[in-house]
Amino acid sequence: MAKPRVFVTHPLFEPAREILNEGCEAEYWAQPDRPPRPELMQRLKDKEGLICLLTERVSEELLRAAPKLRIAANVAVGFDNIDVVACTKRGVVATNTPGVLDETTADFAWTLMMAVARRLGEGEALARSGIWQGWDLDQLVGTDVWGKTLGIVGFGRIGRAMARRASGFQMKVIYTDAVRALVEVEKELKAEFREMNALLAESDFVSVHVPLLPETRGLFDAPKFYRMKPTAFLINTSRGPVVDEAALVAALEEKKIAGAGLDVYENEPFIHSGLKRANVVLAPHLASASLETRTKMACMAAQNVVALFRGQRPPNMLNPEVLEAS
Ligand code: GLV
Repeated sequence: MAKPRVFVTHPLFEPAREILNEGCEAEYWAQPDRPPRPELMQRLKDKEGLICLLTERVSEELLRAAPKLRIAANVAVGFDNIDVVACTKRGVVATNTPGVLDETTADFAWTLMMAVARRLGEGEALARSGIWQGWDLDQLVGTDVWGKTLGIVGFGRIGRAMARRASGFQMKVIYTDAVRALVEVEKELKAEFREMNALLAESDFVSVHVPLLPETRGLFDAPKFYRMKPTAFLINTSRGPVVDEAALVAALEEKKIAGAGLDVYENEPFIHSGLKRANVVLAPHLASASLETRTKMACMAAQNVVALFRGQRPPNMLNPEVLEAS
């Protein structure tokens, strides 16, 4: 029997290709640039599976161009690029890669937090500049991370991994979430619940870990920044549109907050020029980018696809009702 045909918008990593090639006939997009939309549609005409990155929108229009498609497997935990409702309507299983990137993402949120607090971006530029004159008492003095208050917005797996790291830094951890964590979890992580406004007023660092949903789009707007301490920093490794970038730029300009560490942007890869300032550390969407984690993510996407074509339930289904209906 012919193997199911799968289009993969990236060459992935060898271990993921091995998983996929066992059960499928995979066609890989190997160009350095992301596949142009018309090309993607063309390639999907005869495919039963798709493995895509978060830069590819799986929309109603794309699904219409892929009449044989049975699964769209995202190589990311965030799936705001996938119209899950449209997938469900067309009987297409959608999957993501939860769990494997939590620690790596939390590591990176900490990287940004420490970099912006300790002015590493500016220090690095100075060290490379050739004009550094040597140690000086008040040179690039930043602010301590240890002993401060860390406010976590979104207390899911990544938010909790963020909290776990704080004890070594003797930080107070507070969090907010639509759903309050179990008392045992709060105890274990030494994290106290706060309503959003209280968290903003109390935190020295506010780290965002919510998914992008209609309710979280623009969550960080001007009133939120006004509630933060003028000495506080915003860290965002979740999704860019959770933060109203124009409001963030205004808050930075008006010194409503002290700075920001950002990995994600409203209109990637565009970065608002107002964010390119000394008190903002910018990264190009790297939070899960360790070889170990990205390999696991790619393998997970491949396993989801292979499982479906073996007649099994893909482990990370976003719309399980698709299989329940059949
Ligand atoms: C990365 O941003 C992801 O959602 O996995």
